[in-house]
Amino acid sequence: MLVIALCKGRLLEPSLDMLARARICFSEDVASSRKLIFNSDDQRFRVVLVKPADVPTYVEYGAADIGIAGRDVLLESRADVLQPLDLKFGYCKIAVAGLSGTRAGEIRGQTGEFPFSALQENGEFTRLTPNSPTIRVATKYPRIAMDYYNSRGIPVEIIPLSGSIELAPLIGLADRIVDLVETGRTLKDNGLEIVEIIAESSARLLINRAGYQTKRDEVLHLIQALEEVIR
Ligand code: PRP
Repeated sequence: MLVIALCKGRLLEPSLDMLARARICFSEDVASSRKLIFNSDDQRFRVVLVKPADVPTYVEYGAADIGIAGRDVLLESRADVLQPLDLKFGYCKIAVAGLSGTRAGEIRGQTGEFPFSALQENGEFTRLTPNSPTIRVATKYPRIAMDYYNSRGIPVEIIPLSGSIELAPLIGLADRIVDLVETGRTLKDNGLEIVEIIAESSARLLINRAGYQTKRDEVLHLIQALEEVIR
């Protein structure tokens, strides 16, 4: 039996749909149940549901043989797993974003002037984090964000958050965010805009290195079935 770790959340339905098209089916309603473990109808697969950021961990440690997770999560986790397939769904971007109208400021920021400002109720602009000597960046991708700013030589203070990242620049917690953008609606509805795209993301198949050797036939059979679905 192969254990497959799937993400709860936005990738779950398309992941289950792809498995169904590869003839891996479940009599239970995996997406709406509160259960966390499900066996496929033919008993050849077991699906476990975990938080998106935890999928690479389950696969790296061999608790799951296979996983489906976004490239965003993989880049952040740096887990030592095999990634044989881009599953061609779950397209999104990892982007730097900030309050609309503050994009040009970043260039000034590199010359030393603190660039970021927010419109107050009285119409004045004010620096968002006046006591901080560096740019504050709120994100649930601290490694990706740090790498991005390090590579540009821009000093930053990373503020790790686990959700509602777009709130941070609106109430003065951060000057920038590094976050996932899918439709762009959350940014737009909160008066934010993309400053720069760091990476493109889509769902990837992950495989445990040891499992790839010990369960080679089963794993290769699954990869082949998924490749046929993607084609
Ligand atoms: C993600 C991401 C953005 C939003 C982007 O959050 O962090 O907030 O989706 O999607 P959009 O571009 O289609 O608007 P998620 O829904 O996973 O919730 P979270 O805030 O709890 O992380």
